[in-house]
Amino acid sequence: MNMHKGPPIIGQLIAEHEIVEGVVGSLHRWAREGQEVDPEARAAYIAFFRVWAKGFHHQQEETILFPALNEHVEIPLDHGPLKVLTDEHEREVELVALLESADPGEPTLTAVLELAHLLWMHIDKENSVVLPEAGERLVRSGISSLEGLAEGPDEVAVREAVEPLVARWTPLEDDDLYRGDGCMACSAYGDTCGGIEKEWWNAWEWEQHLSYEE
Ligand SMILES: [Fe+2]
Ligand SMILES: [Fe+2]
Repeated sequence: MNMHKGPPIIGQLIAEHEIVEGVVGSLHRWAREGQEVDPEARAAYIAFFRVWAKGFHHQQEETILFPALNEHVEIPLDHGPLKVLTDEHEREVELVALLESADPGEPTLTAVLELAHLLWMHIDKENSVVLPEAGERLVRSGISSLEGLAEGPDEVAVREAVEPLVARWTPLEDDDLYRGDGCMACSAYGDTCGGIEKEWWNAWEWEQHLSYEE
């Protein structure tokens, strides 16, 4: 059952974020506690981020959800939230490559922390603002049955390969990173994005908002 407002793809992407969160947290613990005893785990984490996070999850956002928002809701792709998210997807690819080339030990932890911080904040942006707002807008525009993709065999394989690692190196948050919901907590707010109201609201939404305030 889709618990989230919006077409089925919204609930699917939010559910997939839980899987990514688990693997990111596990990678973090492994980088701190597991590298020496379990060095071969790094390849399995890297394969997950390449094949599943980038090749499956981000791919659905970039080729299904974002184009639908652009086509049916006139949300721009070249600035605002969708540009921020697409740029972060590209940065994830760079950071995974960096992780692959990092020396074991301390340099790996540095690379892991950069990747983990990026993905945690990325998920916060999507879960707390972009996906709920996108879901409402798509439904309002008559797009209520947009679906995501099913995993292919390669995607199932890399996801299943990290499951024992997530059980062994249980997800660890980073207390040094502030995480929060909404635009005010967003790393891009006021920098590369003006916030959801400024970037996405149309004249009708502003009118509704102002009439509530009166
Ligand atoms: Fe994303
Ligand atoms: Fe996502």
